[in-house]
Amino acid sequence: MNGYYKRTSPETAGEPVLVASGLRKTYRMGRVPVQVLKDASIEVRSGEWVAILGASGSGKSTLLHLLGGLDRPDPDGGMIRFEGRRVSDFGGAELNGYRNRSVGFVFQFYHLLPELSVLENAMLPCLVPNRWVSATLPLLAALIGGGVGAAIGSTFGVEILPTADAPTPSKIALLAVTCGVLGAAVGVVLFQIGQVLAERTRLRHGPQAATSRHTLEEFGLGHRLRHRPSQLSGGERQRTAIARALASEPGILMADEPTGNLDATTGREILDLLKKRHDAGLTIVMVTHDATVAEYADRVVRLEDGRVVETTA
Ligand SMILES: Nc1ncnc2c1ncn2[C@@H]1O[C@H](COP(=O)(O)OP(=O)(O)OP(=O)(O)O)[C@@H](O)[C@H]1O
Ligand SMILES: [Mg+2]
Repeated sequence: MNGYYKRTSPETAGEPVLVASGLRKTYRMGRVPVQVLKDASIEVRSGEWVAILGASGSGKSTLLHLLGGLDRPDPDGGMIRFEGRRVSDFGGAELNGYRNRSVGFVFQFYHLLPELSVLENAMLPCLVPNRWVSATLPLLAALIGGGVGAAIGSTFGVEILPTADAPTPSKIALLAVTCGVLGAAVGVVLFQIGQVLAERTRLRHGPQAATSRHTLEEFGLGHRLRHRPSQLSGGERQRTAIARALASEPGILMADEPTGNLDATTGREILDLLKKRHDAGLTIVMVTHDATVAEYADRVVRLEDGRVVETTA
């Protein structure tokens, strides 16, 4: 069962999941501070689709990036709570989890990785490397490799020493250390090769691949799985970006101008696709400058002069 289906069960539907209050964000243009968000507050309830409407340059992307944990407000510049917890209190791993699993983000300009295929791009949020695995296991491989190398060096080294060299304890020790270092290097190399092979297998055959493949097929991209983003149309790229945002089955989808770079027909297709997911319970926060696009949402707010102004749906 998808995460967002769970979160929007009848018991939890309508609860505020994301609450931002008094957000301030200032950029510096050289020495000149530019305050983009002045006192922006917004509440998003589970299961609703909120559109943030605003003119170009009004700070829509800035606000969405703050909500998605991709950027931080000014010091003392308001707070964001997700399911009651302050996002600013999240530690590194928790913040990564928030960005990758709690929230799915569709960027204004796709941000697909050109060297990866459509399927690999779509799976990206689920490929966050496990720090324990990438930091600890190579060390373990080196220790085991080193130990085995040293043992081999000290046990069999005597036999391969040139006959002129008497096998003194210090020579045997030197041999053991040399074999140990070589063994450690071999251990790390073997570990890295194993990790790449395991990652490839996970990419192609793991449950995540099946989920992403299924989403891409649902989005009409089943015949494009192995293509690179440069071989796709704008609409296909956006559908890949949405599939990526949904890969970890997030509670909230944040979409920054999801139709901004598309023609009207393709834009409608994308919105229909979002609507289908929303009807199934997905919470959506969408940024747009286009009032007709905003009409898809349950509720429309405006971003004006760095503040969020409530309007009617
Ligand atoms: N990293 C940055 N450094 C300096 N200024 C920035 C930065 N990012 C955004 N800005 C400025 O902040 C303002 C708001 O930018 P933002 O991208 O949030 O607007 P927007 O409403 O998303 O616009 P658009 O509809 O064109 O995408 C703009 O004036 C922009 O130039
Ligand atoms: Mg923008």
